[in-house]
Amino acid sequence: MSENKQTSSAPDDTPPSKSVDQSEAPESGSAEASNSGKPRRNFVVEFLAVAIGGLVGLVPTAIGGLFLLDPLLRKGTHPAGGEAEGEEGNPVVKENGFLRLTLGIDGLPADGTPVRYTVHDDIVNVWNKFPNQPVGAVWLRRIQDQVLAFSTVCPHLGCDVEHRSGEGDFYCPCHTSAFNLDGAPLNKIPPRAMDALEAEVRDGRIWLKYEQFRGATSEKVLV
Ligand code: FES
Repeated sequence: MSENKQTSSAPDDTPPSKSVDQSEAPESGSAEASNSGKPRRNFVVEFLAVAIGGLVGLVPTAIGGLFLLDPLLRKGTHPAGGEAEGEEGNPVVKENGFLRLTLGIDGLPADGTPVRYTVHDDIVNVWNKFPNQPVGAVWLRRIQDQVLAFSTVCPHLGCDVEHRSGEGDFYCPCHTSAFNLDGAPLNKIPPRAMDALEAEVRDGRIWLKYEQFRGATSEKVLV
């Protein structure tokens, strides 16, 4: 009877190898999974960090670039010739230095009476563009199918030359320079005639090359 007891107790001393293997197997498997998944997760995190960092840096760079290029971008969208007219709310139309005026030759009196016209142009500097700004004025006269144009800037010292319909002349009130309707001086105060400007009539429209000249000189010197 005692032998049977010893024989039956022997298996109890030996730990069941099968249960140990089963309990260790999952731990070993999860370790492998974590070891194989870690580098992948790290890579994804690093990739996202680089991508987000790049985007965050790109936004202010792009905004700064657009700010710097703004004048050029606007200039690039300026129409090289359209149907709009060079008045407030419409883009300036310019070709080879000539501005297309909103006034047609039919808008000038056939008897040659001067009409004052405010010239608009785009003012562009390095940083800004101010479209369609008043940049000066001219006196326009119709002579048959041609147009005479004179700057309103007095060649003496730069005051504004008026038209006196009663006297039939141009007159500068600052120092009493006077000119006939062809711009020739009527007294010795102005150093030269009124500054004539190039004007053309194309399909009934007046095109003007608006320029400014230095005052107090006998010669026309471009500013
Ligand atoms: S500025 Fe015109 S007369 Fe002197």
